[in-house]
Amino acid sequence: MGEKAYFVCVPTSAGTGSEVTPFAVITDEQTGVKYPLADYELMPDMAIVDADVQMMAPPGLTSASGIDAVSHALEAYASMMATDYTDGLAIRALQTIFEFLPQCYDAAVAKKAAPKAREKMANAATMAGMAFANAFLGVMHSMAHKLGAFHHIPHGIANALMMEQVLRFNAVAVPRKMGTFPQYDHPHTLERYCEIATALGISGKDKNEQFENLIKAIRELQARIGIKPTIKDYVPDEADFLARLDDMVEQAFDDQCTGANPRYPLMREIKEMYLNAYYGKRETV
Ligand SMILES: [Fe+2]
Repeated sequence: MGEKAYFVCVPTSAGTGSEVTPFAVITDEQTGVKYPLADYELMPDMAIVDADVQMMAPPGLTSASGIDAVSHALEAYASMMATDYTDGLAIRALQTIFEFLPQCYDAAVAKKAAPKAREKMANAATMAGMAFANAFLGVMHSMAHKLGAFHHIPHGIANALMMEQVLRFNAVAVPRKMGTFPQYDHPHTLERYCEIATALGISGKDKNEQFENLIKAIRELQARIGIKPTIKDYVPDEADFLARLDDMVEQAFDDQCTGANPRYPLMREIKEMYLNAYYGKRETV
């Protein structure tokens, strides 16, 4: 295809980062089934990142796609494939999003343009995309993919709902199982999250407190842009959620994003994270 056509992508939200990644998701509107695609043929030859086309994005799209970019940067930074190159992009993306996403959301609610904030968010989403195109993602996306597909929750919101659980899960000092290809001799994801916290100006008297303050800041950002705290808020039919939970767990375990996660999840751990996220429990799995 590269010889016959030049593949140009123009993102209309900030964002998925698809304009700079070999990943795409297509939804069959008749069946509701989502097909995640991963192939370097999907890697655009050129990305045109123009905040003009994102300027009047509605509040729901602004917050869902903005928090998706947060999840990309968090997962790329914690990934076992992370490098100095992806770290720089992920950190700068997070700093930018924490500063400018609330402004974009407010402008969207007021139906007003916010040229500077929208441009910053457009850049941040693409930087986060460059980070995860190279470092890949983790189990937050594995679980979000299935949560979104089973219960028709927007992708970014599904990530937001799993975010705290996965951060707590990854930050554990003694996991039951290490990740598949660890490049380190002991789990260090708590330290990695603390590096993110430091870059965001979030401190604490020790690493655990700094990590808790990072989680608090993420929760506050989500609430600030109108995202509700639990899966139950989006899936009130508890019986239906529980009835299909095991299928969702199995599919999440098999998702291609699981492989880069710093801690290898067992199926029962994925199930516990889903349940904690459903009921809003803050426990660590
Ligand atoms: Fe995503």
